Amino acid sequence: MRYASITDRLEHLGSGKWAVHLEARRMAAAGAPIIELTIGEPDVPTDPALLAECARSMHAGRTRYSNGRGEPGVVAALVAKYARRRPDIDEHNILCFPGTQTALFAVMLGLVESGDGVLVGDPLYATYEGVIASTGAHMIPVPLRPEKDFHMQAEDLEKAITPNARVLLLNTPHNPTGAVLSRDEIARLGEICRRHDLWIVCDEVYEELIFDKPFASPFDSPELAERTIVVSSISKSHAAPGFRSGWAVGPAEFCDKLLPVSETMLFGGQPFIADMTEMAISQPFQTAAIMRQKYRTRAELVCKTLAGSNLLQPLMPEGGMFIVIDVSATGLSGDAFAWDLLKDEQVAVMPGASFGEQAADYVRVSLTVDDALLVTAMERMVALAGRIAAEGAPRPRSLSA
Ligand SMILES: Cc1ncc(COP(=O)(O)O)c(C=O)c1O
Repeated sequence: MRYASITDRLEHLGSGKWAVHLEARRMAAAGAPIIELTIGEPDVPTDPALLAECARSMHAGRTRYSNGRGEPGVVAALVAKYARRRPDIDEHNILCFPGTQTALFAVMLGLVESGDGVLVGDPLYATYEGVIASTGAHMIPVPLRPEKDFHMQAEDLEKAITPNARVLLLNTPHNPTGAVLSRDEIARLGEICRRHDLWIVCDEVYEELIFDKPFASPFDSPELAERTIVVSSISKSHAAPGFRSGWAVGPAEFCDKLLPVSETMLFGGQPFIADMTEMAISQPFQTAAIMRQKYRTRAELVCKTLAGSNLLQPLMPEGGMFIVIDVSATGLSGDAFAWDLLKDEQVAVMPGASFGEQAADYVRVSLTVDDALLVTAMERMVALAGRIAAEGAPRPRSLSA
């Protein structure tokens, strides 16, 4: 049978990146006691008040059709949230979507198509490649250099720009590296985007999971307002990824143009989830503070546990729920190390290469298991690194991607 080219463009994107994770799940299903540190699922519960609000709303009959922009209550809550950052924001700047992922998908569909280029830092969140490819546009990687702690450098962006480049896709705090861009760094990147007339799409899903630094965003800069679109959700901030509740905030003209795209895709969201999201955004909750404290403590614990090993170099994240570890001193790539770690030590981590070439020497560890288990996993990692170094020669592989 014949299919549209989008199916070919997306066909091979999923499988290779997640091979270690899928094998770990297979082994776990067969009874192996795997410590799974692959995906980023918050390990704190959704606040009971939010669950109650969702149920209350459903029972109150909020189960009818909505509209393309979002229920008035949640739109007003988002206006209040973003107007604190930029007072010119009103309901014309908001579009609700089922999660950051769908917001990204729709936003990209509205901005680029075949022949266009999207600049994005490498390493990158694993689904960006698919989001870009689905539009027909191509990805233009901007190397995020380990020696710059994976912060995008203005000169690297400038060098990567081609005549077809239309969008810079930013992610701060960054997955997988935990890098948080400063105001000055954003100003330098923004100046280049203005000069080359590029849109800026900024994925801020980890906004509330920054450990120390102040949060900075191109959205907050009046000079960048006409070209900046923020996407985010309650998935991480409120430990509620299964609710699929997110949004895009951008220029009114952009939102008006994207509205028919959104309506065509979704025909509106679920009013009871909108009510729960309205409560999440407009009332104080402790979930993000609890996660910040947990993920920071665990990242420090990883650094402490690995401190004795000169073969494993963790990079303390500035935010988010992951830590990346340079394993190159073992002589193995991140991918080979992750497979050996799974096979020999029953610990599952993501190979850095799943997120891009620049992270090929790294593995990414999710900080979403309890402290003791994380320390056990890191001790096993140190033991494996020691054995690899002692063996010296390349090891035979019994599992591979
Ligand atoms: C950088 C980044 N963006 C987007 C998402 C997806 O978020 P959502 O659940 O809001 O679709 C994730 C999930 O891990 C992520 O890490």
